[in-house]
Amino acid sequence: MKTLHVDLGSRSYDIQIAPGLLDKVGEEIRKVCPRAKRIAIVTDTNVEPLYGARVEDRLEAAGFDTGLFTGPAGEGAKCATHLAALWEAMMHFGLTRTDAVVALGGGVVGDLAGFAAATILRGVDFIQIPTTLLAQVDSSVGGKVAIDLAAGKNLAGCFWQPRAVLMDPDTLNTLDDKTFSDGMAEVVKYGCIADRDFFEFLCAHPSRAQLMANIEHILYTCCNIKRSVVEKDELDTGKRMVLNFGHTLGHAYELAGNYEKWTHGQAVSAGMCAAAGLGVSLGVTPAQLPGRLEGLLKALDLPTHIDCTAEVYAAAIGHDKKGAGEDISVILLEELGRAVAKKMPKAKLLEGLQ
Ligand code: GLY
Repeated sequence: MKTLHVDLGSRSYDIQIAPGLLDKVGEEIRKVCPRAKRIAIVTDTNVEPLYGARVEDRLEAAGFDTGLFTGPAGEGAKCATHLAALWEAMMHFGLTRTDAVVALGGGVVGDLAGFAAATILRGVDFIQIPTTLLAQVDSSVGGKVAIDLAAGKNLAGCFWQPRAVLMDPDTLNTLDDKTFSDGMAEVVKYGCIADRDFFEFLCAHPSRAQLMANIEHILYTCCNIKRSVVEKDELDTGKRMVLNFGHTLGHAYELAGNYEKWTHGQAVSAGMCAAAGLGVSLGVTPAQLPGRLEGLLKALDLPTHIDCTAEVYAAAIGHDKKGAGEDISVILLEELGRAVAKKMPKAKLLEGLQ
């Protein structure tokens, strides 16, 4: 078992990483929610058949009454309609302010369940049980919860820190290769922005079998970097921006593929390569860095380039929540393991992408 403590004052919590942890979720949740009687388990149609009954069983053995709330799999579930249905179902279940919500699944489930927990009854306790690599290394940690609007992704949301993050790396064994690679884009991001040795480690262990043989080390390293960034800037007003390396352009690629052709990780992968190229052209990034980054991403079966028109870039940059007025902050690499935010006019960024 590896444990990380996220120190956020009264909102502090532990991240636990251990194979087989799914069988201990009852006792772990009892420790952080001693007064809870009912637990609403939010999951989706992919995850419920794999782990739903097992988690329910472990929670009931710890004395909780459980309700299983299974929504459709996929980004479409992160919408106001499903959120409202979840609120109503939670009330019907009899959830009270001392009860808790558990997110059992990937990033979509975590975001939707977390926003439901943050808003139902003006906020109830929330526990993350992430089951995808992307959710384990990124979205389950740090308290960002949201739903999508027609105007863009994650536009209605808030910060609502979990009371605990319980990750069982064994759940990654049921992911298909594409979903595993999707999470690896975020793993590579951590090496790029904060830990050159970790980047080199990934280069030396790029196959899924090698990565899974070292998965606790990988999850711990990524979550430790995220912990340290979130502790310095919980509400994303400055330093947390480095976590968006590859994401500004990645959002453009997601948009270019209508959020269907490319997964988030694939888009971030190409976005990191584009940001590395941009950094070289601006004299910030060493010339040999993009080749090294592309080599690792290719070995992980991730794209290093996605076609995108100037119009789509402009639309994505215009919608980017990080942009202030006509300027935008772009995360660039000064070297492998060191990121910097560069504020530049949006027009200059668009020129640099042509
Ligand atoms: N995924 C970026 C953040 O949590 O800030």
